[in-house]
Amino acid sequence: MKLSDTKATLSFSNGTPSMELPVYSGSIGPDVIDIRKLYGQTGLFTYDPGFMSTAACQSSITYIDGDKGELLYRGYPIEQLAVNCDFMDICYLILNGDLPDGEQKKDFDNQVTRHTMVNEQMHFFMRGFRRDAHPMAVLTGLVGGLSAFYHDSTDITNPTHRHISAIRLIAKMPTLVAMAYKYTIGQPYIYPQNNLSYTGNFLRMMFANPCEDYVVNPVVERALDRIFILHADHEQNASTSTVRLCGSSGTNPFAAIAAGVACLWGPAHGGANEACLNMLEEIQANGGMAKVGEFMEQVKDKNSGVRLMGFGHRVYKNYDPRAKLMQQTCKEVLAALGLENDPLFKLAMELERIALEDPFFVERKLYPNVDFYSGIVQRAIGIPTALFTAIFALARTVGWIAQWNEMLSDPEYKIGRPRQLYSGESARAYKKK
Ligand code: ACO
Repeated sequence: MKLSDTKATLSFSNGTPSMELPVYSGSIGPDVIDIRKLYGQTGLFTYDPGFMSTAACQSSITYIDGDKGELLYRGYPIEQLAVNCDFMDICYLILNGDLPDGEQKKDFDNQVTRHTMVNEQMHFFMRGFRRDAHPMAVLTGLVGGLSAFYHDSTDITNPTHRHISAIRLIAKMPTLVAMAYKYTIGQPYIYPQNNLSYTGNFLRMMFANPCEDYVVNPVVERALDRIFILHADHEQNASTSTVRLCGSSGTNPFAAIAAGVACLWGPAHGGANEACLNMLEEIQANGGMAKVGEFMEQVKDKNSGVRLMGFGHRVYKNYDPRAKLMQQTCKEVLAALGLENDPLFKLAMELERIALEDPFFVERKLYPNVDFYSGIVQRAIGIPTALFTAIFALARTVGWIAQWNEMLSDPEYKIGRPRQLYSGESARAYKKK
């Protein structure tokens, strides 16, 4: 970051002397006002619930321009990456800062492939869960549990340890997600197969069984790979900030990523894809197209508590670029699988059409986000709704670990410790009740 010529001046109406605050510029995007000395000099905190105007760190991984609907990974537009790269390219890019050349890609693929197996003890760990446990509950436990296996590499001050942990997490997430799925349906776990692509291997671990051969469908493989690419990182969202905050205490990376998984589960974040598909299924069950108008009236009625899931975003006040790519993938997958007339896809298109014309949504700048179409793609592939957020977690792991690594390498890194505006009782004497 660069010190700007501009300075901000904070003045007070109560006679407290005014204070000059430095302003820093990034490479693109809004400048920031440095308030670090504010408390020391004035005794005041800033108040910003939900981090509406607060940058908690500097980062060079992902850039979003919410008004333009722009998303860059390490400077490259998502639209170009989605059509020219596979998920392993993206993982390399996000972790290392640039796209790999042929040799680097081969070496990276090889490293990830050689870490896809999980310790056999994990099978016994799984048995402690109920068969009907939500996959995100299982995944939170399993990812946290990984820290119990890698005492050899949890020195977070050692860059080699951090690298091996990143590779392990990226490599093992598909295995853990597939295990969580197989457990719920009572099928044996399928071990990873190293001659398949990262995504092909995941599909096989999900859908193969020991009784017959499984052939990866390239259209499905490509579609799922794109889902992974589109979810790989999204700068300082709730789960990434959780990983950073959790990791800032110096905890091990598996524990920090488990915290990210837990945060992602919420319906306002990664749980939205599951909530969106449930919403579409509910509209369909209640009358389908004929009931779309009625549903939209409910959404617009603030007292109903109903939201159009898969719509709206804290940062995007324009079309989420990932939603456009996902809509295209959705069309391709449905066509390839002979599901062009899928009623839920038609319903989603109709909801989108109405919302993009309706002043309620237009005035609030509400557009489809990445989750609006991803659930339909996953459902077509055969992934159960309850597993959608786990797929998101699998894809986001690279973003989380890269952001965690970036934080630990930052000379300005400190334990995260927000302040508060206390509104409880003042000190009072104990009285027995
Ligand atoms: N349906 C109906 N109204 C909405 C929606 C929606 N999906 N999203 C926002 N609004 C309305 C709010 O009621 C509010 O209206 P008001 O100004 O009249 O009170 C206004 O738009 C602003 O909404 P906020 O909730 O204040 O916006 P915020 O930035 O805090 O929330 C969020 C963003 C949580 C994503 C929200 O749009 C939402 O709940 N969307 C549905 C869930 C969803 O799809 N989440 C996925 C996000 S993307 C991701 O995690 C991958």
